[in-house]
Amino acid sequence: MNKKIFIASDHAGYEMKTKLNEYFNSFIDLGTNSFDSVDYPDFAHKLTKEVLKNKKNVGILICGTGVGMSIAANRDPKIRAALAFNSKIAELVRQHNDANILVLPGRFIDIHEAIKCVDNFLKTKFEGGRHQKRINKI
Ligand code: RB5
Repeated sequence: MNKKIFIASDHAGYEMKTKLNEYFNSFIDLGTNSFDSVDYPDFAHKLTKEVLKNKKNVGILICGTGVGMSIAANRDPKIRAALAFNSKIAELVRQHNDANILVLPGRFIDIHEAIKCVDNFLKTKFEGGRHQKRINKI
């Protein structure tokens, strides 16, 4: 099965999600689909369910701060959802943490930084080695 890239947001991340979809045009969008107020855990759980169907899958979650989505997504032991607010962090969460979900703070970074974050997250490989040992301890 091929790697799938899922994206979801609440209302606070809707604008950024729309712009990322326009730019990358390759993600499976799980909503939300408007600025109407919704509850971020509903979208975090919808996305983690899809990501966990295949080891290769990854996800992108966006809420206002990125914190709510991170907390909700990380309730599943197989999820490593990492909040990144610049592109270097987005690179490191792959290299060191083998993050399978990138979380972005829609209200606190601009779209240019968000695009660089997604780019780095998608192209960076996990380094393994000492980092794998640490992940095993989680
Ligand atoms: C929505 O107003 C906001 O609380 C949510 O997007 C997120 O920032 C929660 O962590």
